[in-house]
Amino acid sequence: MQITFTRPDDWHLHLRDDEAMASVVTATAERFARAIVMPNLSPPVTTTEMAMAYRQRILNALPADSAFTPLMTLYMTDLLGHEEIVRARQSGIVQGIKLYPAGATTHSDAGVTDIRKRYPVLETMQKEGLPLLIHAEVADPEVDIFDREQVFIERHLIPLKRDFPALPMVFEHITTKDAVEFVSDCDGRMGATITVQHLMHNRNTLLAGGVRPHYYCLPILKRGTHQAALIEAATSGDPHFFLGTDSAPHPQHAKEAACGCAGCYTAHAAIELYAEVFEQAGALDRLEGFASLYGADFYGLQRNRGTITLEKHSWVAPESYQFGQDRVVPFGAGKTIDWRLAGISRQADRIS
Ligand code: NCD
Ligand code: ZN
Repeated sequence: MQITFTRPDDWHLHLRDDEAMASVVTATAERFARAIVMPNLSPPVTTTEMAMAYRQRILNALPADSAFTPLMTLYMTDLLGHEEIVRARQSGIVQGIKLYPAGATTHSDAGVTDIRKRYPVLETMQKEGLPLLIHAEVADPEVDIFDREQVFIERHLIPLKRDFPALPMVFEHITTKDAVEFVSDCDGRMGATITVQHLMHNRNTLLAGGVRPHYYCLPILKRGTHQAALIEAATSGDPHFFLGTDSAPHPQHAKEAACGCAGCYTAHAAIELYAEVFEQAGALDRLEGFASLYGADFYGLQRNRGTITLEKHSWVAPESYQFGQDRVVPFGAGKTIDWRLAGISRQADRIS
């Protein structure tokens, strides 16, 4: 069996930089026409100039005939100013500004310490129509790690939506039923990305019978009732919800450690894994909307014209891949994946 549909985009991706980036970017470029590239390098991508240089490094790492367009983001710090937002908008290459609460996740030390103090720049973003992409977890050490998303909704998202009704916002990598309900009740200026690990797994996979560090990401996997709500949202055909892998490669030794870091590497088989989830939910016909249409519509970008073809053919994910000087263990290493990539049509999808 084969399925062919509009080429998908990945609306939340970590590519890293230099050699490490060069070893993972092809996996994404083979499948997706575009990806929103996260700015949490160290140091973070905080200016349009840095984003342009990073974009060029990504393009340089790809074969000349690659039909892939990186879409860039800036990292919001306490210092990001109005001029930079206007510059970002005018550049045409920056599609959003990413808000990481300081300390919430990997490389977020330079993040925002007080969202209220960023209200003036949010005004400018609203005026410019530049989307705010939100890592929606409080970094408050008093709040239980499993509750950090719900608490963020109450403390920050409800006020943000009230105070900036016209600002496009993406609630990134949602992990709870509460997030699904919040986003469903908002208008079309609120979107949400959903990762494949949050659709395929719950916290039992991470913790029952042993700690499995390759399933540790942030926001952390939640209980099964939340997983069920995410599957329902993703496969519902509701355009608020679209694909964002949050593929976040780390060297094997940094994950398999006494204090392992957060992030799942899913780019090696991202769309294939989503196909598995949609098939199991009896919703393969809704994969195209989620993976290829709603995200582009949200960002006000053209839908892709090329197509992707997947075939039902099982293969086993490798135990690891090269990752710069290191190895990265992919999500589902050594396990069978039901779908495989059969090909893409490259029809004019690269916008340079
Ligand atoms: C991401 C990373 O490694 O950069 N990690 C993760 O667990 N998702 C950061 C992020 O998106 O939170
Ligand atoms: Zn991320």
